[in-house]
Amino acid sequence: MSTEFPVDVKTVTVRKAVVSDVDDIHTILQEYAASGLLLPRTKEDLAMRIGNFRICEKDGRFAGCAALRDYGDSLFEVRSLAVKKELAGCGIGSLMVSGILDMLKKEKCPCRVFALTYRAPFFCRLGFRIVEKELFPQKIWSDCSICPKAANCDETAVHMEIPAGV
Ligand SMILES: CC(C)(COP(=O)(O)OP(=O)(O)OC[C@H]1O[C@@H](n2cnc3c(N)ncnc32)[C@H](O)[C@@H]1OP(=O)(O)O)[C@@H](O)C(=O)NCCC(=O)NCCS
Repeated sequence: MSTEFPVDVKTVTVRKAVVSDVDDIHTILQEYAASGLLLPRTKEDLAMRIGNFRICEKDGRFAGCAALRDYGDSLFEVRSLAVKKELAGCGIGSLMVSGILDMLKKEKCPCRVFALTYRAPFFCRLGFRIVEKELFPQKIWSDCSICPKAANCDETAVHMEIPAGV
C-alpha cells in the first residue's frame, strides 16, 4: 500500500475517458485479469463503451479507471474499477467511486447501483451493502455467461439504493 494517504487532491483529476485512453485501460485491466480480480476486456469492446469510463490521473499520468454500466430501469453497475498497483491505498479508488455516486445522486436518482467484487469492505466503506447476487439477472446473463468462473462465481455482490431527493 502507498505511503501517500489520503491522496493529494491537487495532484489528482478525474475526467471522462476518450478513445486515446483505451490502451491504458486495456493494460491495467489485463494486469488485474491475470490474477483473476477483474474480467479482461478487448480493446474493441473498450473503444465501443469508452463513454462509460472515467479516468483518474495523478500528476497528469494515468492512475486508474472506473466504468458505470447502465442496465436501464434505473439499475447501474460499477465495473472495471482499477487503480495502478503503486498508487493503491491512497484514496484514488474511493475518489472515483464517490464521483460516480455523486453523479448518480445529481442526475439519475432514484436509482440502484451494484458491483460484483472481491473487495466488498472497500465498497461497504462507501455505503454499499452486501446482497445476494441473484438480485441482478441482467448481469448474470451478460458478463457472467462469458466469465471462466461462470456458475462457480466467488465474488460478492454489493448494492446501494439512491432514493429520490438526496
Ligand atoms: C479495489 C481498488 C480499486 C481500490 O483502489 P484504491 O485506490 O487502492 O482504494 P482506496 O485507496 O480508496 O481504498 C483502499 C484502502 O485504503 C484505505 N483508505 C482509503 N481511503 C480511506 C479513507 N477515507 N478512510 C479510511 N481508509 C481509507 C483503506 O484501508 C482502504 O481499505 P478497504 O479497501 O478495505 O476499505 C484497487 O485496489 C484495485 O485496483 N484492485 C484490483 C482490481 C479490483 O479488485 N477492482 C474492484 C473490482 S469491482
